[in-house]
Amino acid sequence: MVANGSEIRSSVVASQLDVHVKYGGVVPELASREHLRAIVPVVRQAMEQAGATWDDLSAIAVTAGPGLIGSLLVGVTYAKALCFARQIPLIAVNHVEGHVHSVFLDHPGIAFPALALVVSGGHTHLFETKEAGTYRLLGKTRDDAAGEAYDKVAKLLGFQYPGGPMIDRLAPHGNRRAVKFTRPKMKGNELDFSFSGLKTAVLRWTEQQNMAEEIAARRAVKSSAIEDILKVTPQRTLDLLASFQHAVVEELLRHALISAEQIGAESVIVAGGVACNSGLREAAKKQRGLRFYFPTFHLSTDNAAMIAAAAFPKLQRKEFAKADLKPHPGLVLA
Ligand code: KG4
Ligand code: ZN
Repeated sequence: MVANGSEIRSSVVASQLDVHVKYGGVVPELASREHLRAIVPVVRQAMEQAGATWDDLSAIAVTAGPGLIGSLLVGVTYAKALCFARQIPLIAVNHVEGHVHSVFLDHPGIAFPALALVVSGGHTHLFETKEAGTYRLLGKTRDDAAGEAYDKVAKLLGFQYPGGPMIDRLAPHGNRRAVKFTRPKMKGNELDFSFSGLKTAVLRWTEQQNMAEEIAARRAVKSSAIEDILKVTPQRTLDLLASFQHAVVEELLRHALISAEQIGAESVIVAGGVACNSGLREAAKKQRGLRFYFPTFHLSTDNAAMIAAAAFPKLQRKEFAKADLKPHPGLVLA
């Protein structure tokens, strides 16, 4: 629950990690079932934590897309029902715009024009945002999203899902200059990204290094404690992870800097799960003359506070969703 667009009264996140970890990734049917199971208790808990009653709510915001249809349907249907019962407005929010607002929650005074880099499991997008609420797409990934590349590389190396946080924790133990990855050359829009080549390069490397046994040994480890993982991860693999992380971070930053210059950005907003990445945060800190803004860690990955924050300007403009709102798995922001 968010008051006045920026004051977080409560933030409750129901993690489904335990369910998906067994399958090495998100299983859509299980995701919607878990949503269905969690939605009523999570909303109740958020109301309790905020010390709020239904009468305190001016509106209910819901993610209308992009995302998995089953999960979106659960949220949209429940939000519609609540709004109908309480006779309050419903506000439809784009998930990606939610991520951008996770940064405004902590840094309300960001200077515009800004460049927004949204990097998550589903997105690697660059937007020009001249003022809060306006977006022009400058570039996006043509294949895997950055977080997806992390998750896929981790999976093929025998690490647990989600791979991003694990690779990030292991990368500082390796030498980032050990493995050279060729950078993709983009035909057409130079601001577009491509991460699938990096994933294939990692696969080839594992084959050349005959890593099958090492990978199998890691898959057998059920613990996600870093000391247990380090025991089954030799130096060559730590070096590979450090080099992979370095390549991803360099690619993200390079694009961010070129596009920031193109649009004369005063600030750079980095949002989405991959905004947690320590390598990316450190590299951004070293940039001179351009301010980078990241959300706090708990707001970087998916959460409802960012959706409520993104809904606030729409509430002020009375931009409400119709009663027949339908979720859009492929909803685009710009
Ligand atoms: O925004 P998010 O919670 O969900 C989506 O909308 O996709 O992002 C999840 C993604 C996953 O791919 C996860 O591996 C990645 O963010 N991620 C990270 C880190 N923490 C989460 N990637 C790299 N480094 C991290 N520290
Ligand atoms: Zn997300």
